[in-house]
Amino acid sequence: MNVTEILKTRVSAPWRILGEPGPSDAELREFLEAAMTAPDHGAVRPWRFVVVRGAAREAAGKLFTEALLKRKPDADEATIEKDRERMRQVPLMITVAARITHDHPKVPPAEQLVASGLAAQAILLAAQAKGYGGVMLTGDHAYDAHVKQGLGLRETDEIVAFLYIGTAAGEQRPKKRPDPAKFTIEWTGPA
Ligand SMILES: Cc1cc2nc3c(=O)[nH]c(=O)nc-3n(C[C@H](O)[C@H](O)[C@H](O)COP(=O)(O)O)c2cc1C
Repeated sequence: MNVTEILKTRVSAPWRILGEPGPSDAELREFLEAAMTAPDHGAVRPWRFVVVRGAAREAAGKLFTEALLKRKPDADEATIEKDRERMRQVPLMITVAARITHDHPKVPPAEQLVASGLAAQAILLAAQAKGYGGVMLTGDHAYDAHVKQGLGLRETDEIVAFLYIGTAAGEQRPKKRPDPAKFTIEWTGPA
């Protein structure tokens, strides 16, 4: 498939349908190399990636539980279990964070956040091109200091997304997408 076909057929896979096998070391490396091509004003390289797979997933599930209980001591068992289940089931989770240089003379924080988001999307697309399914999620954990610290990030890092990647059970059908004309004007000069 060429890149336009990959983009046009991209869909997020609900994490519940993602399972083994996960990407190999070489494939993971390739996904991260794809991330390095993200447009990046000033070559700030604001993105940081935290890879969680194998046995570490159980510990990440535990970290999410701790964070949830700190935020909501009365969280119900189903909510707690959901994080753990996701970490047990999906073979690979990559946290994409933006380490923003706030006093950069040329590149405002928003641009650094965009670059990090584009890196995240590059990973998802590279994974899809290799036949894997994936999804980008955030939720309250993305804004939680305990999660950031537990994952080895700085409190000032901004988690852009948690990427969940694995083999999708069943066929991933392309979705009907909106007509781009609804979001587009052709500017032909001042009115
Ligand atoms: C930064 C970011 C965070 C997201 N977080 C969530 C999330 O926490 N939960 C969710 O259901 N979808 C989330 N989404 C949306 C999904 O990743 C996905 O785009 C959406 O389910 C639509 O599916 P599609 O990508 O196949 O169109 C997020 C998207 C972005 C860009």
